[in-house]
Amino acid sequence: MTGPTFLRAPEDQAVTQSLEEAFARRYGQGPEGVWSAPGRVNVIGEHTDYNAGLCLPMALQHRTYVAARRRPDGVVRVASQQTEASWEGQVDDVGPGRVPGWPAYVLGVLWALRRRDLPVSGFDLLVDGYVPVGSGLSSSAALSCSTAVALADLVPGGDRLTRQQLAADCVLAENVIAGARTGGLDQAIALRAVAGHVLLLDFRDFAAEPVPWTVTVRGWTLLVVDTRAAHSLVDGQYAARRESCERAASQLGLGALGEIDVDALDGALFRLREDDVLVRRTRHVVTEIDRVRGAAEALRRADVQALGELMTRSHRSLADDFEVSSPELDLVVEAALKSGAAGARMTGGGFGGSAIALVRVDEMQSVAQAVASAFAARGWAAPYVLEATPSGPAARVS
Ligand code: GLA
Repeated sequence: MTGPTFLRAPEDQAVTQSLEEAFARRYGQGPEGVWSAPGRVNVIGEHTDYNAGLCLPMALQHRTYVAARRRPDGVVRVASQQTEASWEGQVDDVGPGRVPGWPAYVLGVLWALRRRDLPVSGFDLLVDGYVPVGSGLSSSAALSCSTAVALADLVPGGDRLTRQQLAADCVLAENVIAGARTGGLDQAIALRAVAGHVLLLDFRDFAAEPVPWTVTVRGWTLLVVDTRAAHSLVDGQYAARRESCERAASQLGLGALGEIDVDALDGALFRLREDDVLVRRTRHVVTEIDRVRGAAEALRRADVQALGELMTRSHRSLADDFEVSSPELDLVVEAALKSGAAGARMTGGGFGGSAIALVRVDEMQSVAQAVASAFAARGWAAPYVLEATPSGPAARVS
Protein backbone atom coordinates (compact mmCIF):
# COMPACT_ATOMS: atom_id res chain seq x y z
CA MET A 1 0.00 0.00 0.00
CA THR A 2 1.32 3.49 -0.81
CA GLY A 3 1.95 5.35 2.43
CA PRO A 4 1.86 9.11 2.83
CA THR A 5 5.14 11.04 2.92
CA PHE A 6 5.50 13.16 6.09
CA LEU A 7 7.30 16.47 5.44
CA ARG A 8 9.22 17.50 8.54
CA ALA A 9 10.60 21.00 9.06
CA PRO A 10 14.41 21.13 9.39
CA GLU A 11 16.17 22.68 12.41
CA ASP A 12 16.95 26.42 12.07
CA GLN A 13 20.57 25.85 12.96
CA ALA A 14 21.23 23.24 10.29
CA VAL A 15 19.62 25.37 7.57
CA THR A 16 21.42 28.53 8.68
CA GLN A 17 24.84 26.95 8.67
CA SER A 18 24.54 25.42 5.22
CA LEU A 19 22.97 28.61 3.85
CA GLU A 20 25.81 30.76 5.18
CA GLU A 21 28.34 28.43 3.59
CA ALA A 22 26.50 28.40 0.26
CA PHE A 23 26.26 32.20 0.36
CA ALA A 24 30.02 32.55 0.88
CA ARG A 25 30.70 30.10 -1.98
CA ARG A 26 28.39 31.93 -4.36
CA TYR A 27 29.18 35.55 -3.47
CA GLY A 28 32.76 35.25 -2.13
CA GLN A 29 31.86 36.51 1.34
CA GLY A 30 29.46 35.39 4.12
CA PRO A 31 26.07 37.12 4.69
CA GLU A 32 25.43 39.81 7.32
CA GLY A 33 22.66 37.63 8.70
CA VAL A 34 19.94 35.04 8.01
CA TRP A 35 16.21 35.73 8.43
CA SER A 36 13.21 33.42 8.08
CA ALA A 37 9.42 33.52 7.78
CA PRO A 38 6.84 30.74 8.18
CA GLY A 39 4.33 29.22 5.78
CA ARG A 40 0.78 29.06 7.11
CA VAL A 41 -2.44 27.14 7.22
CA ASN A 42 -5.68 28.97 7.71
CA VAL A 43 -7.72 27.08 10.34
CA ILE A 44 -10.89 28.84 9.21
CA GLY A 45 -12.00 32.07 7.50
CA GLU A 46 -11.40 31.58 3.78
CA HIS A 47 -11.88 34.26 1.14
CA THR A 48 -12.82 36.68 3.91
CA ASP A 49 -9.65 38.82 4.07
CA TYR A 50 -10.40 40.82 0.92
CA ASN A 51 -13.99 41.23 2.13
CA ALA A 52 -13.00 43.10 5.30
CA GLY A 53 -13.77 39.95 7.28
CA LEU A 54 -12.13 37.68 9.86
CA CYS A 55 -9.76 34.74 9.56
CA LEU A 56 -7.90 32.45 11.95
CA PRO A 57 -4.53 31.32 10.54
CA MET A 58 -1.60 29.50 12.13
CA ALA A 59 2.11 29.83 11.25
CA LEU A 60 3.81 26.55 10.31
CA GLN A 61 7.18 25.30 11.49
CA HIS A 62 8.07 25.06 7.82
CA ARG A 63 9.89 28.25 6.90
CA THR A 64 11.71 30.08 4.14
CA TYR A 65 15.19 31.43 4.92
CA VAL A 66 16.96 34.40 3.35
CA ALA A 67 20.66 35.21 3.80
CA ALA A 68 21.58 38.81 2.92
CA ARG A 69 24.49 41.21 2.59
CA ARG A 70 24.34 44.89 1.60
CA ARG A 71 26.26 46.16 -1.44
CA PRO A 72 27.26 49.80 -1.89
CA ASP A 73 26.97 49.81 -5.71
CA GLY A 74 23.21 49.47 -6.30
CA VAL A 75 23.59 45.97 -7.78
CA VAL A 76 21.09 43.33 -6.64
CA ARG A 77 21.70 39.60 -6.99
CA VAL A 78 19.03 37.08 -6.01
CA ALA A 79 19.53 33.31 -6.07
CA SER A 80 17.96 30.20 -4.54
CA GLN A 81 19.15 26.89 -3.17
CA GLN A 82 16.15 25.21 -4.83
CA THR A 83 16.38 26.40 -8.43
CA GLU A 84 18.88 27.58 -11.02
CA ALA A 85 16.78 30.61 -11.96
CA SER A 86 18.36 33.73 -10.51
CA TRP A 87 18.26 37.50 -11.10
CA GLU A 88 20.88 40.20 -11.32
CA GLY A 89 20.40 43.89 -12.06
CA GLN A 90 20.31 47.38 -10.64
CA VAL A 91 17.94 48.48 -7.86
CA ASP A 92 16.43 50.90 -10.41
CA ASP A 93 15.59 48.06 -12.80
CA VAL A 94 12.88 46.67 -10.50
CA GLY A 95 9.36 47.66 -11.52
CA PRO A 96 5.96 46.25 -12.53
CA GLY A 97 6.26 43.63 -15.29
CA ARG A 98 10.06 43.74 -15.24
CA VAL A 99 10.94 40.78 -13.00
CA PRO A 100 9.91 37.29 -14.12
CA GLY A 101 9.37 34.28 -11.85
CA TRP A 102 10.06 33.77 -8.16
CA PRO A 103 12.66 36.60 -7.76
CA ALA A 104 9.71 39.02 -8.12
CA TYR A 105 8.61 38.14 -4.57
CA VAL A 106 12.02 39.22 -3.24
CA LEU A 107 12.61 42.21 -5.50
CA GLY A 108 9.02 43.40 -5.06
CA VAL A 109 9.71 43.98 -1.36
CA LEU A 110 12.82 45.96 -2.19
CA TRP A 111 10.71 48.04 -4.58
CA ALA A 112 7.97 48.56 -1.96
CA LEU A 113 10.48 49.75 0.66
CA ARG A 114 11.97 52.19 -1.82
CA ARG A 115 8.51 53.69 -2.31
CA ARG A 116 8.68 54.62 1.37
CA ASP A 117 11.79 56.63 0.52
CA LEU A 118 14.04 54.30 2.45
CA PRO A 119 17.64 54.34 1.14
CA VAL A 120 17.68 50.83 -0.31
CA SER A 121 21.16 50.08 -1.68
CA GLY A 122 22.28 46.97 -3.52
CA PHE A 123 21.99 43.50 -2.01
CA ASP A 124 23.22 39.96 -2.40
CA LEU A 125 20.46 37.55 -1.36
CA LEU A 126 20.28 33.76 -1.21
CA VAL A 127 17.04 31.93 -0.44
CA ASP A 128 16.42 28.45 1.01
CA GLY A 129 12.78 27.36 1.25
CA TYR A 130 11.11 24.59 3.25
CA VAL A 131 7.49 25.60 2.71
CA PRO A 132 6.12 23.26 0.03
CA VAL A 133 5.68 25.30 -3.17
CA GLY A 134 2.32 25.40 -4.97
CA SER A 135 0.59 23.68 -2.03
CA GLY A 136 -1.55 26.57 -0.80
CA LEU A 137 0.68 26.91 2.28
CA SER A 138 1.90 30.42 1.41
CA SER A 139 5.42 29.75 0.23
CA SER A 140 5.13 33.09 -1.60
CA ALA A 141 4.37 35.08 1.54
CA ALA A 142 7.14 33.21 3.40
CA LEU A 143 9.51 34.44 0.69
CA SER A 144 8.32 38.05 0.63
CA CYS A 145 8.07 38.29 4.43
CA SER A 146 11.51 36.79 5.14
CA THR A 147 12.92 39.33 2.67
CA ALA A 148 10.95 42.12 4.37
CA VAL A 149 12.37 41.44 7.84
CA ALA A 150 15.89 41.12 6.39
CA LEU A 151 15.65 44.45 4.57
CA ALA A 152 13.94 46.17 7.51
CA ASP A 153 16.94 45.18 9.65
CA LEU A 154 19.58 46.17 7.12
CA VAL A 155 18.21 49.34 5.48
CA PRO A 156 18.72 52.54 7.53
CA GLY A 157 15.37 53.57 9.04
CA GLY A 158 13.79 50.16 8.28
CA ASP A 159 13.50 49.43 11.97
CA ARG A 160 10.82 52.14 12.26
CA LEU A 161 8.37 50.10 10.18
CA THR A 162 5.74 48.18 12.12
CA ARG A 163 4.89 44.57 11.31
CA GLN A 164 1.58 45.79 9.91
CA GLN A 165 3.37 48.18 7.56
CA LEU A 166 5.75 45.45 6.44
CA ALA A 167 2.76 43.17 5.76
CA ALA A 168 1.19 45.92 3.63
CA ASP A 169 4.46 46.28 1.69
CA CYS A 170 4.59 42.54 1.04
CA VAL A 171 0.99 42.56 -0.25
CA LEU A 172 1.90 45.45 -2.55
CA ALA A 173 5.03 43.64 -3.73
CA GLU A 174 3.05 40.49 -4.56
CA ASN A 175 0.17 42.40 -6.20
CA VAL A 176 2.21 44.84 -8.28
CA ILE A 177 5.58 43.23 -8.97
CA ALA A 178 4.76 39.49 -8.87
CA GLY A 179 1.31 40.02 -10.41
CA ALA A 180 -0.36 37.79 -7.80
CA ARG A 181 -3.57 39.06 -6.24
CA THR A 182 -3.55 38.23 -2.57
CA GLY A 183 -5.69 39.63 0.19
CA GLY A 184 -3.32 40.06 3.15
CA LEU A 185 -4.02 36.99 5.28
CA ASP A 186 -0.78 35.19 4.37
CA GLN A 187 1.51 38.17 4.99
CA ALA A 188 -0.23 39.13 8.25
CA ILE A 189 0.25 35.70 9.81
CA ALA A 190 3.83 35.32 8.55
CA LEU A 191 4.82 38.64 10.14
CA ARG A 192 2.58 38.74 13.22
CA ALA A 193 2.26 35.10 14.37
CA VAL A 194 2.59 34.18 18.03
CA ALA A 195 4.02 30.72 18.80
CA GLY A 196 1.51 28.34 20.39
CA HIS A 197 -1.41 30.45 19.13
CA VAL A 198 -3.56 31.02 16.09
CA LEU A 199 -4.21 34.63 15.14
CA LEU A 200 -7.71 36.11 14.98
CA LEU A 201 -7.23 38.65 12.19
CA ASP A 202 -9.79 41.37 11.56
CA PHE A 203 -9.40 42.96 8.14
CA ARG A 204 -11.64 45.91 8.99
CA ASP A 205 -8.88 47.47 11.09
CA PHE A 206 -6.01 44.92 10.78
CA ALA A 207 -6.29 43.99 14.45
CA ALA A 208 -4.59 40.69 15.36
CA GLU A 209 -5.56 38.81 18.50
CA PRO A 210 -3.63 35.67 19.49
CA VAL A 211 -5.90 32.78 20.53
CA PRO A 212 -4.27 29.83 22.32
CA TRP A 213 -4.21 26.63 20.26
CA THR A 214 -5.94 24.61 22.96
CA VAL A 215 -6.67 21.51 20.88
CA THR A 216 -3.28 20.09 21.90
CA VAL A 217 -4.22 20.02 25.61
CA ARG A 218 -7.12 17.76 24.62
CA GLY A 219 -4.77 15.41 22.74
CA TRP A 220 -5.70 16.60 19.23
CA THR A 221 -3.66 18.16 16.45
CA LEU A 222 -3.95 19.52 12.91
CA LEU A 223 -2.94 17.33 10.00
CA VAL A 224 -2.18 19.10 6.72
CA VAL A 225 -2.61 17.14 3.50
CA ASP A 226 -0.98 18.54 0.38
CA THR A 227 -2.99 17.02 -2.47
CA ARG A 228 -0.18 17.86 -4.92
CA ALA A 229 -2.86 18.89 -7.39
CA ALA A 230 -1.99 22.05 -9.29
CA HIS A 231 -2.87 25.32 -7.61
CA SER A 232 -2.03 28.82 -8.67
CA LEU A 233 -3.19 32.22 -7.50
CA VAL A 234 -2.00 33.93 -10.64
CA ASP A 235 -4.83 32.35 -12.62
CA GLY A 236 -8.20 33.99 -13.17
CA GLN A 237 -10.40 32.13 -10.68
CA TYR A 238 -9.20 33.94 -7.58
CA ALA A 239 -9.60 37.29 -9.32
CA ALA A 240 -13.08 36.25 -10.49
CA ARG A 241 -14.16 35.47 -6.89
CA ARG A 242 -12.92 38.85 -5.72
CA GLU A 243 -14.71 40.58 -8.53
CA SER A 244 -18.03 38.84 -7.68
CA CYS A 245 -17.69 39.89 -4.05
CA GLU A 246 -16.98 43.49 -5.03
CA ARG A 247 -19.97 43.49 -7.36
CA ALA A 248 -22.28 42.09 -4.66
CA ALA A 249 -21.06 44.67 -2.13
CA SER A 250 -21.55 47.51 -4.57
CA GLN A 251 -25.09 46.35 -5.48
CA LEU A 252 -25.87 46.43 -1.77
CA GLY A 253 -24.36 49.89 -1.44
CA LEU A 254 -21.57 48.61 0.82
CA GLY A 255 -17.81 48.99 0.83
CA ALA A 256 -17.29 45.27 1.51
CA LEU A 257 -19.39 42.14 2.18
CA GLY A 258 -17.83 41.90 5.66
CA GLU A 259 -20.05 44.80 6.70
CA ILE A 260 -23.13 42.52 6.60
CA ASP A 261 -24.08 41.12 9.98
CA VAL A 262 -25.16 37.48 9.87
CA ASP A 263 -28.60 38.51 11.21
CA ALA A 264 -29.03 40.80 8.21
CA LEU A 265 -27.96 38.13 5.71
CA ASP A 266 -31.44 37.07 4.54
CA GLY A 267 -32.34 40.65 3.69
CA ALA A 268 -29.13 41.11 1.72
CA LEU A 269 -29.65 37.84 -0.18
CA PHE A 270 -33.20 38.87 -1.03
CA ARG A 271 -31.88 42.06 -2.60
CA LEU A 272 -29.38 40.04 -4.67
CA ARG A 273 -31.95 37.38 -5.68
CA GLU A 274 -31.74 38.13 -9.41
CA ASP A 275 -28.17 36.82 -9.49
CA ASP A 276 -27.75 33.34 -8.02
CA VAL A 277 -23.94 33.47 -8.19
CA LEU A 278 -23.81 36.66 -6.15
CA VAL A 279 -26.28 35.17 -3.65
CA ARG A 280 -24.05 32.16 -3.06
CA ARG A 281 -20.78 34.09 -2.90
CA THR A 282 -22.28 36.51 -0.39
CA ARG A 283 -23.77 33.70 1.71
CA HIS A 284 -20.35 32.06 1.95
CA VAL A 285 -18.53 35.23 3.01
CA VAL A 286 -21.03 36.30 5.67
CA THR A 287 -21.54 32.84 7.20
CA GLU A 288 -17.78 32.17 7.08
CA ILE A 289 -17.03 35.31 9.10
CA ASP A 290 -19.58 34.12 11.65
CA ARG A 291 -17.92 30.69 11.75
CA VAL A 292 -14.55 32.32 12.48
CA ARG A 293 -16.04 34.01 15.54
CA GLY A 294 -17.47 30.65 16.63
CA ALA A 295 -14.15 28.90 16.06
CA ALA A 296 -12.23 31.42 18.20
CA GLU A 297 -14.79 30.91 20.98
CA ALA A 298 -14.55 27.12 20.63
CA LEU A 299 -10.77 27.37 21.01
CA ARG A 300 -11.10 29.50 24.12
CA ARG A 301 -13.32 26.76 25.61
CA ALA A 302 -10.96 24.04 24.26
CA ASP A 303 -14.03 22.54 22.54
CA VAL A 304 -12.49 20.39 19.79
CA GLN A 305 -15.80 19.00 18.50
CA ALA A 306 -17.33 22.45 18.06
CA LEU A 307 -14.23 23.67 16.21
CA GLY A 308 -14.26 20.58 14.00
CA GLU A 309 -17.93 21.03 13.07
CA LEU A 310 -17.31 24.65 12.07
CA MET A 311 -14.35 23.58 9.91
CA THR A 312 -16.44 21.00 8.07
CA ARG A 313 -19.26 23.51 7.56
CA SER A 314 -16.69 25.94 6.18
CA HIS A 315 -15.61 23.33 3.66
CA ARG A 316 -19.18 22.69 2.50
CA SER A 317 -19.74 26.41 2.06
CA LEU A 318 -16.49 26.79 0.08
CA ALA A 319 -17.37 23.79 -2.10
CA ASP A 320 -21.06 24.55 -2.73
CA ASP A 321 -21.46 28.33 -2.46
CA PHE A 322 -17.99 29.71 -3.22
CA GLU A 323 -17.05 26.88 -5.63
CA VAL A 324 -13.32 26.85 -4.96
CA SER A 325 -12.84 23.21 -3.90
CA SER A 326 -11.61 20.36 -6.10
CA PRO A 327 -12.20 16.59 -6.27
CA GLU A 328 -8.88 16.00 -4.44
CA LEU A 329 -9.72 18.41 -1.62
CA ASP A 330 -13.22 16.93 -1.26
CA LEU A 331 -11.73 13.45 -1.05
CA VAL A 332 -9.31 14.44 1.73
CA VAL A 333 -12.21 15.87 3.73
CA GLU A 334 -14.41 12.83 3.16
CA ALA A 335 -11.67 10.29 3.98
CA ALA A 336 -10.48 12.19 7.06
CA LEU A 337 -14.00 12.52 8.47
CA LYS A 338 -14.66 8.80 7.88
CA SER A 339 -11.49 7.86 9.75
CA GLY A 340 -12.10 9.86 12.91
CA ALA A 341 -11.31 13.54 12.22
CA ALA A 342 -13.42 15.97 14.27
CA GLY A 343 -13.53 18.27 11.26
CA ALA A 344 -11.81 18.87 7.93
CA ARG A 345 -11.69 21.49 5.22
CA MET A 346 -9.71 22.85 2.33
CA THR A 347 -7.34 25.66 3.32
CA GLY A 348 -6.03 28.65 1.35
CA GLY A 349 -7.32 29.90 -1.97
CA GLY A 350 -8.51 26.48 -3.20
CA PHE A 351 -8.66 24.88 -6.69
CA GLY A 352 -6.07 22.33 -5.48
CA GLY A 353 -3.42 22.81 -2.83
CA SER A 354 -3.95 21.56 0.71
CA ALA A 355 -6.69 20.45 3.10
CA ILE A 356 -6.54 20.21 6.89
CA ALA A 357 -8.04 17.73 9.34
CA LEU A 358 -8.46 18.00 13.09
CA VAL A 359 -7.33 14.59 14.37
CA ARG A 360 -6.37 12.85 17.61
CA VAL A 361 -2.57 12.90 18.00
CA ASP A 362 -2.49 9.10 18.25
CA GLU A 363 -4.64 8.77 15.10
CA MET A 364 -2.65 11.14 12.92
CA GLN A 365 -0.83 8.31 11.13
CA SER A 366 -3.97 6.26 10.55
CA VAL A 367 -5.95 9.23 9.19
CA ALA A 368 -3.03 10.11 6.89
CA GLN A 369 -2.92 6.51 5.73
CA ALA A 370 -6.69 6.44 5.12
CA VAL A 371 -6.39 9.55 2.94
CA ALA A 372 -3.43 8.08 1.04
CA SER A 373 -5.39 4.86 0.44
CA ALA A 374 -8.37 6.81 -0.87
CA PHE A 375 -6.04 8.62 -3.27
CA ALA A 376 -4.44 5.34 -4.37
CA ALA A 377 -7.90 3.87 -5.04
CA ARG A 378 -8.52 6.70 -7.54
CA GLY A 379 -5.10 6.23 -9.12
CA TRP A 380 -3.91 9.62 -7.81
CA ALA A 381 -0.34 10.28 -6.62
CA ALA A 382 0.17 9.82 -2.86
CA PRO A 383 -0.35 13.13 -1.03
CA TYR A 384 2.27 14.74 1.19
CA VAL A 385 1.35 15.32 4.82
CA LEU A 386 2.66 17.41 7.66
CA GLU A 387 1.65 18.29 11.20
CA ALA A 388 0.81 21.94 11.83
CA THR A 389 2.25 23.19 15.12
CA PRO A 390 1.67 26.91 15.70
CA SER A 391 5.01 28.63 15.31
CA GLY A 392 6.53 32.09 15.61
CA PRO A 393 6.66 35.01 13.17
CA ALA A 394 9.27 36.12 10.65
CA ALA A 395 12.49 36.88 12.50
CA ARG A 396 16.25 37.04 12.34
CA VAL A 397 17.78 33.60 12.94
CA SER A 398 21.48 34.46 12.88
C1 GLA B 1 -4.97 33.05 -0.78
C2 GLA B 1 -4.73 34.54 -0.66
C3 GLA B 1 -5.23 35.06 0.68
C4 GLA B 1 -6.67 34.64 0.94
C5 GLA B 1 -6.85 33.14 0.67
C6 GLA B 1 -8.28 32.71 0.77
O1 GLA B 1 -4.22 32.36 0.14
O2 GLA B 1 -3.35 34.82 -0.79
O3 GLA B 1 -5.08 36.45 0.76
O4 GLA B 1 -7.53 35.41 0.17
O5 GLA B 1 -6.35 32.78 -0.60
O6 GLA B 1 -8.73 32.81 2.07
